Amino acid sequence: MIRVGLIGAGFIGRNHFNQYEKLTDRAKVVALCDADADRRAGDWSKVGGNLADAQGTKRDLGNIKPYTDWRELVADPEVDMVDICVPTYLHREITVAALQAGKHVLCEKPMALKVEDCNEMIAAAKGPAKFMVAQCIRFWPEYVWLKKVVDSGEYGPLRALHLRRHSSLPTYALNNWISSPEKSGGAILDLHVHDVDYALYLLGKPKSVFAAGYQRTGGGIDRVYASWQYPSNVVLQLEAFWDMPPGFPFNMGFTAAFEKASVHWDCAQGVPLKVYVMGEEPKTPEMPAEDGYFGEICHFLDCIEKNVKPSITTPEESRDAVALALAEQKSVLTGKPVEIN
Ligand SMILES: NC(=O)c1ccc[n+]([C@@H]2O[C@H](COP(=O)([O-])OP(=O)(O)OC[C@H]3O[C@@H](n4cnc5c(N)ncnc54)[C@H](O)[C@@H]3O)[C@@H](O)[C@H]2O)c1
Repeated sequence: MIRVGLIGAGFIGRNHFNQYEKLTDRAKVVALCDADADRRAGDWSKVGGNLADAQGTKRDLGNIKPYTDWRELVADPEVDMVDICVPTYLHREITVAALQAGKHVLCEKPMALKVEDCNEMIAAAKGPAKFMVAQCIRFWPEYVWLKKVVDSGEYGPLRALHLRRHSSLPTYALNNWISSPEKSGGAILDLHVHDVDYALYLLGKPKSVFAAGYQRTGGGIDRVYASWQYPSNVVLQLEAFWDMPPGFPFNMGFTAAFEKASVHWDCAQGVPLKVYVMGEEPKTPEMPAEDGYFGEICHFLDCIEKNVKPSITTPEESRDAVALALAEQKSVLTGKPVEIN
């Protein structure tokens, strides 16, 4: 049984808590830290988010140990694994401290706000403890399916791919930390990094990136349209924005054109992923019921149980996603393409 200490019981911390409740034969939350007294006590009625939680808003935390200071949770000998779900600007410090204390660490995305911080986290993970950044999209059924189809060549080579992520301004975050770019990195790091990481997973590093966008709220980039250049000439476009009016539904999706088929999916439409092949009826491949949050946590628990390093996503790849997102930001701010090494 892996004993988990959860730090941060906001939108994503509550979600991770729900996943552990489905995995009671493998993991158990034994400690929970949040700076907010209500959340620490299991009152999650003021927790917001862009995906619904059907689990209810008040939880009986039973004998889960409440901590006000994450340092005390990290020092708790009864905690084997620390799950970090606090605002992004805290990821580096808590990850490094937890790894140095010998705990396994699952840290939310984006890994950190700067590449140097990511490197510090990677350096702290040289011991036997496992470390993974929670890149849920690599585990999300539709994206897992697309990766399989690209790798297998079932529909011939990929010619073009459009990755999308859309939202209204995420004002639900406690104290609105997400609207401060020095805390969240703005939409490029907070929202768009999901697709940046997925594009790296699918196609590797590009030769260069070019991006356009603008800053409208709080100084961060709220909207980005990027294209990445590859020697193979595959066309890759990525777009993300969070400056839509309140009530605009959260959307993630993609359109892929292969030599022999095209694929389209948008989660906000409620229409399942469809495959279009010339001369045939559109096909709807069956998807697993569990989402990427469940998948990422299962993979991390597997790695701890089998004493192997995470392989579906590595900390070095999460660092590269931060670097690529920052390269796009540089392109937005300079109006010029940025070479990638
Ligand atoms: N994978 C995803 O799809 C996804 C979705 C949302 C957020 N995230 C990431 O998860 C992280 C948290 O985002 P969120 O939306 O859950 O934010 P949130 O504001 O809803 O929750 C953050 C929680 O951390 C607590 N906290 C803040 N400082 C603390 C401290 N020093 N010690 C203890 N607790 C502290 C807050 O009280 C709050 O309850 C961010 O890095 C964000 O980018 C990932």
